[in-house]
Amino acid sequence: MEAPSWAVYALAWLLSLALVILSGHFRRRRANLPPGPKPWPIIGNLNLIGPLPHRSIHELSKKYGPIMQLRFGSRPIVVGSSVEMAKQFLKIHDITFASRPKMAAGKYTTYNYSDITWSPYGPYWRQARKMCLMELFSVKRLESYEYIRVEELRAVLKGLYASSGKPIVLKDHLSTLSLNVISRMVLGKKYTDESETSIVTPGEFKKMLDELFLLNGVVNIGDYIPWIDFLDLQGYVKRMKILSKKFDKFLEHVIDEHNARRQGVEGYVAKDMVDVLLQLADDPTLEVKLHREGVKGFTQDLIAGGTESSAVTVEWAISELLKRPEMFKKATEELDRVIGRERWVEEKDIPQLPYIQAIVKETMRMHPVAPMLVPRFSREDCEIAGYDIPAGTEVFVNTWTIGRDPTLWDAPDEFRPDRFIGRDIDVKGQDFELLPFGSGRRMCPGYSLGLKVIQASLANLLQGFTWNLPDKMKPENLNMEEIFGLSTPKKIPLVAVVEPRLPTHVYGQ
Ligand code: HEM
Repeated sequence: MEAPSWAVYALAWLLSLALVILSGHFRRRRANLPPGPKPWPIIGNLNLIGPLPHRSIHELSKKYGPIMQLRFGSRPIVVGSSVEMAKQFLKIHDITFASRPKMAAGKYTTYNYSDITWSPYGPYWRQARKMCLMELFSVKRLESYEYIRVEELRAVLKGLYASSGKPIVLKDHLSTLSLNVISRMVLGKKYTDESETSIVTPGEFKKMLDELFLLNGVVNIGDYIPWIDFLDLQGYVKRMKILSKKFDKFLEHVIDEHNARRQGVEGYVAKDMVDVLLQLADDPTLEVKLHREGVKGFTQDLIAGGTESSAVTVEWAISELLKRPEMFKKATEELDRVIGRERWVEEKDIPQLPYIQAIVKETMRMHPVAPMLVPRFSREDCEIAGYDIPAGTEVFVNTWTIGRDPTLWDAPDEFRPDRFIGRDIDVKGQDFELLPFGSGRRMCPGYSLGLKVIQASLANLLQGFTWNLPDKMKPENLNMEEIFGLSTPKKIPLVAVVEPRLPTHVYGQ
């Protein structure tokens, strides 16, 4: 008797389904994934991640090795934490890992991934990087803005002079400096002043930037367990939406003003980076159209990237030095010998100040602004160190661990700038022991500006003042804890007392 045709179809369908399931199962079993802790259902390994994720991950990699697989909820995460692994991810297989994961922060705070930092690998992002290289951060453009950096730094030094002998919160002065520098370079003026016509006060704007950095670095549970995303258990998405409204209001105002200035002016010459971006947005030959959202996203990236990171680094540097007075002495001896006491340090003096450069490198080794860089995302399957890394894996390179690797650094927990003297290690993405700006295609495009601001401000803060802790506080009692976000600032801002060390006229008195 012939079997009814529906039964044959049903049997064939069931067999195919079984085959698909079994082949998937075998493929998965065959995949040789990096070692790592066993994940729990639903949460994966999120239970192992504390408030300072780079430190939790550092402890785990001590157990599982330099390439390790974790699961955050349902997402696979691979962590590289040695020089060799950093090279594999950022150099040898750079193009495979040149994308970014899609997360709530990119969606809600950067115009649906229209900025540079969170935009996925592709023509839009490639064009953005070309704009950075050719237009925004070209040597010529950065040089043309040197007068702005000098004016703003002098204003801060003058302000510190006026506060001599009284306790100051250093980060406030440093954030003002970098915000003013970056505002004038990117936006053409300080949009954030205390006047009544100002769209936002400097204090409010700094709070917005702090919030932006924090929300761009947090582990948002909804990103990793998508089916509970709508609950927004930590309240981060709500905060992102509120923040993006505030930034949008500000950026809309900036763009309207710039457009009004350009309108009807034949052969208008760009005066700042927003002008450059608006001109690019008008360019019909551009490979991918740059829309208003993109101009706003890029502008926000430039302000954020340029403001927080340098202030955080200089605050760490001075804090470390305050714990070690002999290093202050060594730095000021170098400054007195090379610069003298009759003038301020200029950017062109930096190559003659190896000890100052060494302090900056040592600070970036011990306190990298982005300890695990910004997450990368694999675009295709790849094999690293004999392990399979499937497409769609999120990758962290833990530079914090690399900076503390005892096989690379003697006494890695000690702040010793001398370790860099006479050693040819730089921070520009070529030496994988020290990667404060990352490396490869996604490396920080603003690194030369960042370095200029950090080196010049640190050199002048040391040149102009002696530094002390307030109220006879002992150096060993200075709190050196950190908080985690997209940047890693001191948990408790440094309070210090400065006294001038140069003749009065140098301070412009
Ligand atoms: C101390 C100063 C700075 C530090 C330590 C720093 C650090 C970093 C790091 C670690 C990355 C991620 C690299 C990677 O994924 O491999 C990055 C990316 C980025 N930085 Fe910086 N940065 C600094 C200054 C700046 C400045 C001054 C700007 C702009 C004005 C800037 C804009 C950006 C942008 C737009 C990206 C995203 C690049 C991309 O995804 O293609 N940064 N930065």
